[in-house]
Amino acid sequence: MLVFIPAETRAGERRVGLTPEGAQKLIKLGLTVSIQEGAGQASGYHDDEYKAAGASVAGISAISTADVVATVRPLENDAIGQLKSGAITISFLSPANDAQTVKALADKKVTALSFDVLPRISRAQSMDALTSQALCAGYRTVLIAAERAPKFFPMLMTAAGTIPAAKVLVLGAGVAGLQAMATAKRLGAIVSAYDVRASSADEVKSMGATFLDLGLDEVEGSGGYAREMTPERAKAQQDALKKFISASDVVITTAAVPGRKAPTLITTDMMSEMKPGAIIVDLAAESGGNVDGSVAGEDVVVNVPGGSITLIGCKDLASQLAVHASKLYAQNVVSLLTLMTAEGVVTPDEEDEVVQGSAVVFNGEIRNAMAREALNLPALATGKGE
Ligand SMILES: NC(=O)c1ccc[n+]([C@@H]2O[C@H](COP(=O)([O-])OP(=O)(O)OC[C@H]3O[C@@H](n4cnc5c(N)ncnc54)[C@H](O)[C@@H]3O)[C@@H](O)[C@H]2O)c1
Repeated sequence: MLVFIPAETRAGERRVGLTPEGAQKLIKLGLTVSIQEGAGQASGYHDDEYKAAGASVAGISAISTADVVATVRPLENDAIGQLKSGAITISFLSPANDAQTVKALADKKVTALSFDVLPRISRAQSMDALTSQALCAGYRTVLIAAERAPKFFPMLMTAAGTIPAAKVLVLGAGVAGLQAMATAKRLGAIVSAYDVRASSADEVKSMGATFLDLGLDEVEGSGGYAREMTPERAKAQQDALKKFISASDVVITTAAVPGRKAPTLITTDMMSEMKPGAIIVDLAAESGGNVDGSVAGEDVVVNVPGGSITLIGCKDLASQLAVHASKLYAQNVVSLLTLMTAEGVVTPDEEDEVVQGSAVVFNGEIRNAMAREALNLPALATGKGE
């Protein structure tokens, strides 16, 4: 069966759906791998390396003969139009936000597997691309902050005087937040963190950071995720966080609630008391932002008494680490395909919890509840979809 890797088409996307190492692993499974010419170029993987791994290099027209198509971002309409019926697509695909793409995939009678909704069970950890890419994004936030901050991160004792360590506050202690804490610690900063899930306190401590106990109710939903806060709870959190934000040199915000706009954690009023020169890096800028006024891909200068602070709205963070983000992503793709492949044939088993959870579309049927809701389709009988 043919696995085809098209080049990513979305502006700013530098990652690739499969690396040469990943291609070699799929070939060992008995699959044939073909990559669109130059698809790995922006992430540092060259056509010759794919050929050396046993893959072929082809034009985009090969997509029409592929049994499996793996990309990072969802396919665009042109590419979907060329898929053969019964093909399997693997990518990130937000059931609610990419509903028209979901519909186009269903119309082509394909099976569309999405990492956005892959169940986070232990068996699927090696397939968890949300985690692998959040890891890259969390690491990048700190490097961006360190590069832009007018201060050292570590404490330095020099003949010319002592420099105190920078104070870094991380809001949201999921995968990205924990990686941000670890990275800031490695750079020598004093790190503290807050999350609405009290269960995250031990993980924060294991990163060498201090968990801020604000004395507020926790807001934990199902599956280890946060729930949406009430406006009263949000206000209480903002009031309690204000003094910690004012004392910070760097604030990194990573808070998210599945299926919802990112919660606002920092208001304009809270920023007004920050120290001149402070930096806020908003990892959630692309999903609505955790900070009032943040714009994905832009820096916003906010005036405060005595100077200004910089609010950095992140965009394409994992892509900025394209070599390793692609390497990890490719392993997620290989692990998912390994689960579904026997004797060189890829057959998604709809009874398997991992396939069931990640199949937004199964053989042309839209199975995901959020996608069905977004498309005004009636809910499916229980047992099918999420
Ligand atoms: N395979 C696995 O078992 C697996 C893999 C990855 C993550 N997880 C778990 O899944 C959960 C979610 O991780 P994620 O990285 O996907 O999270 P996420 O990206 O959904 O959210 C990031 C963090 O923001 C926090 N948050 C939400 N609203 C907030 C607010 N108002 N103030 C402060 N923080 C707020 C969340 O609690 C979460 O920790 C965690 O419990 C994590 O340990 C499990």
